[in-house]
Amino acid sequence: MRILSGIQPSGALHIGNYFGAIRQYIALQEENDAFYFVANYHALTSVRDAARLREYTFHVIADLLALGLNPDRACLFVQSDVPETTELAWLLTTVTPMGWLEKCVSYKDKVSQGLPADHGLFAYPILQAADILLYDADKVPVGQDQKQHLEITRDVAERFNNTYGPVFKLPEPYILSQVAVVPGLDGRKMSKSYDNTIEIFDEPKTIEKKVKRIVTDSTPVEEPKNPETCNLFQLFKLFAPAGEIAEVEQRYRAGGIGYGEVKKRLATLIADYFAEPRRRRADLLADPVKIEEVRRAAADKARRTARIVLDRARNACGVG
Ligand code: ADP
Ligand code: TRP
Repeated sequence: MRILSGIQPSGALHIGNYFGAIRQYIALQEENDAFYFVANYHALTSVRDAARLREYTFHVIADLLALGLNPDRACLFVQSDVPETTELAWLLTTVTPMGWLEKCVSYKDKVSQGLPADHGLFAYPILQAADILLYDADKVPVGQDQKQHLEITRDVAERFNNTYGPVFKLPEPYILSQVAVVPGLDGRKMSKSYDNTIEIFDEPKTIEKKVKRIVTDSTPVEEPKNPETCNLFQLFKLFAPAGEIAEVEQRYRAGGIGYGEVKKRLATLIADYFAEPRRRRADLLADPVKIEEVRRAAADKARRTARIVLDRARNACGVG
């Protein structure tokens, strides 16, 4: 099966990105033909500083490798190394009704958070559709917030196919319900734009400080608590071993556990969970040549794959 996903180099990766997407990238690389990319064309909609964009791009490659992405199994490339993407995006825009883009919640959200309402931001889902369709992807591992973009991708592919004949494969989102939305420190979806993240590679001291900020209610220690509605417990469940989750859950329901105790344990669990990747990342950041080699080899493979589909689309609509 062909797997494809992308992640924007618009800041440091956080644990919502890890559980919502990256962990699935790594699991799926074993049995599948996987393509993952750093979506730097997309990041231009929010990062307006060339040096910073280059640095983030480099860091995302290093971070994914450090977390276990294996470049001998999966093709880990940079979106702009495959300029065919932008050509396909244009072909797709010509069959996309404005109304489909106007109803996109992610565009409206980003504008309400202060991003400029540029055409690139508006047309963002079409570029994403091009990313996906260009590789004949079967499954796209993402968090819940990307579901609408996957629906538009399928709609655009269908419309192109209905107009010009069967060119594109229709992709399916791959969303794991337990981690579809990882909560942030304030209980909203964890996101760079809400300043409520714990970064994967935060130092243990920083993790501890951030975990202390996780919002909880004011139920006293001895009172019973509801684990299902507790943001702190949702994060705890991602990191603790099964036996410990069951024990803490039982203590929540019975009363007698304080949020402070759970926070202290959670901070240690998070730091331990990423300790090994943190070491690997330090080695990778010190070896930019290796990162460059991965990038170049992957770009060749991705471009060859993309060319086949792009030519199919060009020929079908009469520009080939
Ligand atoms: P952010 O919202 O911080 O800008 P991105 O949009 O770059 O994150 O997300 C990259 C990937 O991580 C996407 O597949 C997205 O669905 C997933 N993701 C981001 N935040 C979360 C979250 N809080 N819970 C689950 N998945 C998430
Ligand atoms: N829009 C995605 C995000 O913000 C990133 C992305 C770009 C993507 N192109 C993609 C994800 C293609 C999956 C497939 O997270």
